[in-house]
Amino acid sequence: MSTLPFKQNSIIFAPMEGVTEGPYREVIQRFFGDWDYYYTDFYRIPSVGNVNVKTLIKHFGEAYIQKSAHTKQTAYQFLTSEIAQTDQAISLISELDYHHIDLNLGCPSKKVNSNKGGAYLLSDLKALEKIIKQIREGFKNTFTVKIRIGYHDDSLYLDLLKLFEDCGVDGITIHARTRDQLYKGVADWSYIEKAVKVSNLPIIANGDIWTIEDIDKIFDQCNPYAVMCGRSALKTPWLASIYKEHQGNLDFISDEFLLKVRAQNLDLYFYELDKEYRKNGLVDSTILKRFKAFCRYLFDDYENHEAIRGRFLRAQNIHEFRAHLDQFVENYS
Ligand SMILES: Cc1cc2nc3c(=O)[nH]c(=O)nc-3n(C[C@H](O)[C@H](O)[C@H](O)COP(=O)(O)O)c2cc1C
Repeated sequence: MSTLPFKQNSIIFAPMEGVTEGPYREVIQRFFGDWDYYYTDFYRIPSVGNVNVKTLIKHFGEAYIQKSAHTKQTAYQFLTSEIAQTDQAISLISELDYHHIDLNLGCPSKKVNSNKGGAYLLSDLKALEKIIKQIREGFKNTFTVKIRIGYHDDSLYLDLLKLFEDCGVDGITIHARTRDQLYKGVADWSYIEKAVKVSNLPIIANGDIWTIEDIDKIFDQCNPYAVMCGRSALKTPWLASIYKEHQGNLDFISDEFLLKVRAQNLDLYFYELDKEYRKNGLVDSTILKRFKAFCRYLFDDYENHEAIRGRFLRAQNIHEFRAHLDQFVENYS
């Protein structure tokens, strides 16, 4: 039986650096809360100096770690390497009695990989095994990993799956690309299918699950324990709600309907994010920078999406951004 803190067929909001911090998760949980589970973005365990509990709490979001609605539904994600202070971080997170940690083994960043962390570890089974065992011994609650299918290539894929199972990991999220592929091409879901067949661990499918139809398709095709949405969640933060409301009737949802819902929800999304960020002390310029980053995929489904996005990206201040949003909502809802 699975020891995961979320049920089978869950739809999970992926960890995303610069996005899934406390205030963002709060808004999604409160207003678009049909996602079954969330992850923090990764906390990089340092190699030099001490880890302290305050930093861990701050990374989760001080205002949110006291709220059981948050902690119960959120995995705390780490990124580490052989020389990082893993024992110390794990002991502190255990003292906080945190229920679920996830190890990021998919990060493709050159800096992270050159320090032998993230996806690099998928190419070094000896170092990986040491780290996995170290964490497993130090942490008694749920411990999962999030991987790609390999570093340069997929040659160690089956060995990796076996290693995680042998070392007592509780579940594996698989982004079905190698590290070298970055985001190129399309994620190859046949690797998910393979993992579901060969591993006894619950497999969480990730990579290019963009639409409600994709969610159905990957469950049908690969039979994973759950699915995780990254860029699609950023594009459509209400994707899980639409899926759950219309499951079984997906064919009857028109593109026009989805675009209308989008315009209405965007109003709420930015309004509530603005409020929550301010509560956390973020200033106008930081909020504007984030909002512009969030525009990356939001308008992709409109014919003139580049022009729409361009207007938001050129906003000189938060008031201009808001004015464009009001105009957009009026035009499209
Ligand atoms: C902006 C951004 C930040 C990300 N940050 C993280 C992270 O902190 N931890 C992690 O495991 N993956 C991170 N990822 C990877 C996603 O969680 C996910 O695995 C990847 O985007 C593939 O899924 P998708 O096709 O649904 O986007 C990030 C992705 C994006 C786009």
